[in-house]
Amino acid sequence: MAPLLKEAPFLSNLLRIGGKRHGRKCVGAGGERLAKRLWKGESVTHALNGVSLTVRKGEFVALMGASGSGKSTLLSIVATIDKKTSGKVYIDGQNIDSLSSNDLSRFRRENLGFVFQDYALLDTLTGFENIALSLSINNVAGEKIRNRVIDMASLLHIEGILTKYPYEMCGGEKQRIAIARAMATSPRLLLADEPTGALDSKSSQTILESFSELHEKRGASILMVSHDPFASSFAERVVFLSDGKNVGELLRKDKSRKEFYEDIIGQMAEKEANR
Ligand SMILES: Nc1ncnc2c1ncn2[C@@H]1O[C@H](COP(=O)(O)OP(=O)(O)O)[C@@H](O)[C@H]1O
Ligand SMILES: [Mg+2]
Repeated sequence: MAPLLKEAPFLSNLLRIGGKRHGRKCVGAGGERLAKRLWKGESVTHALNGVSLTVRKGEFVALMGASGSGKSTLLSIVATIDKKTSGKVYIDGQNIDSLSSNDLSRFRRENLGFVFQDYALLDTLTGFENIALSLSINNVAGEKIRNRVIDMASLLHIEGILTKYPYEMCGGEKQRIAIARAMATSPRLLLADEPTGALDSKSSQTILESFSELHEKRGASILMVSHDPFASSFAERVVFLSDGKNVGELLRKDKSRKEFYEDIIGQMAEKEANR
């Protein structure tokens, strides 16, 4: 019997920006790195200035950086919501530039899940209906919708709030409904921008544990933006951005979350000292 071929590392990249991945390094294809410039009259802001990023299938990556470093801009471009000035974005091998605007909205609906800092739930719908909506938009049949909502609710421990409206929920509950909504369609990539930014520390921890659980139990691929080292310490890998550029990364490997947190703090202090 022929030996099983080991998958080339770049083939398992779910998200690829700025060159093929060899081991842990992105090499070559410098022109594919992302840039985003914003003009206001004569002045130009380099929101992104040559970023590369990969997320492997089943990986949980945190994107860290101070306010204004370009995190949200990068996430919005990956989300196909914002336009880049130059560079290439491949999601599961698909160059997003080659999709027409109609194909793009379908691609987004079928492949990406979103979690925002402000939850973005519909106030006139219950928790159940908010989650179900993402499935009915994707033409999932009625009976399947119910099963999927129940499955997500039990995973995220929100069975008790499915009949409540958002105004009857606390922030942490709203965010768990939002995560269930994002994950119900089984997206290839879950994108989250400061998902704990509006929450107290206890609710934040619950949300971050939910991400870890989705990652570990369901193999979810997650790209989460945060400026908070506590939040980032739940990821497997942290990519640091500063002034729209990559300035390093850290791997958790077999460290505990607390040890990884210390590493992240150390890296942040070092970067601050070198500014
Ligand atoms: N719509 C916009 N118009 C002008 N400047 C913007 C706009 N969006 C972002 N920027 C600028 O781009 C840079 C990166 O912003 P952003 O991606 O929001 O950073 P972060 O999410 O890391 O705080 C900042 O300097 C910000 O002021
Ligand atoms: Mg931001």
